[in-house]
Amino acid sequence: MILPGSASQSLAAALADQLDEPLAVVETEHFADGEFKLRVPAAGGDLAIIVAATTSAEAHLELLQLQDLAREAFDEVVTVLPYMGYARQDKSFRDGEPVSARAVARALSASTDRGLPVNPHEPAIGDFFDVPFDVVDAAPRLAEPLPDLDDPLFLAPDEGAIGLAETVCDAYGDGSTDYFEKTRSYDTGDVTVEPSGTEPAGRTVVLVDDIVATGSTMSAAVGQLHERNVGEVYVTCLHPMFAANARSKLADAGVAGVWGTDTIERPASAVSVAPTLADYF
Ligand code: R5P
Repeated sequence: MILPGSASQSLAAALADQLDEPLAVVETEHFADGEFKLRVPAAGGDLAIIVAATTSAEAHLELLQLQDLAREAFDEVVTVLPYMGYARQDKSFRDGEPVSARAVARALSASTDRGLPVNPHEPAIGDFFDVPFDVVDAAPRLAEPLPDLDDPLFLAPDEGAIGLAETVCDAYGDGSTDYFEKTRSYDTGDVTVEPSGTEPAGRTVVLVDDIVATGSTMSAAVGQLHERNVGEVYVTCLHPMFAANARSKLADAGVAGVWGTDTIERPASAVSVAPTLADYF
């Protein structure tokens, strides 16, 4: 049985189709104090596959409750994390800071036999879990919606995303890769990007990153590229968070197309990671 978190209902349904598994309809009851509880009528069986993107504090609490229910009602529990919230704080960047990814990982290990996080920001966070959490790589799927392009430049907005850009370039089968140098102020969150070594003038550029959150990174990169007279610029990412006015920022910066996967369900979620996940069962 597939148990969906409320932020992952489309992906959970797609995975249920792929695996020919029943999909639970989770009932939620909210209380006056803001707390909530869940109910899955007729829950029980051999295998529970929970599919829940933890895009908010409430989503974390929902997932913990689904895991608790599943632990009691099923023989085996697998937790799919399409998007793992708090994964970007994967180290203590400044004195006195917790490692938030580790705190979340420990909590999510308590009531599951294994887990499948999809492209977490830092794959090494798999080590924070107390049970096997095998990182799923859905990046090749990002090549699927691209139109026919002649020798595109797949550009990562920072060095950390160059592996993703290379994966998408390989899956597309044409083009080359490079990255921008990016710095972000810990105090203000402002992002600056410096041009990379490749001359992008006249090239069609596909920007590739793991997450678009505030859109600051991508819109700064798009702005830099247009100053250098590139052709069309496309933006693609695994996790289209698009918080606040991120989507408008990208449009204002001048992008020809924007898409991501359904690890976070947004209008731009043009690609499903369900076929990739199905291979793990
Ligand atoms: C950070 O290193 C990530 O790979 C993304 O570049 C970052 O999370 C994007 O955030 P934002 O959209 O807020 O600039």
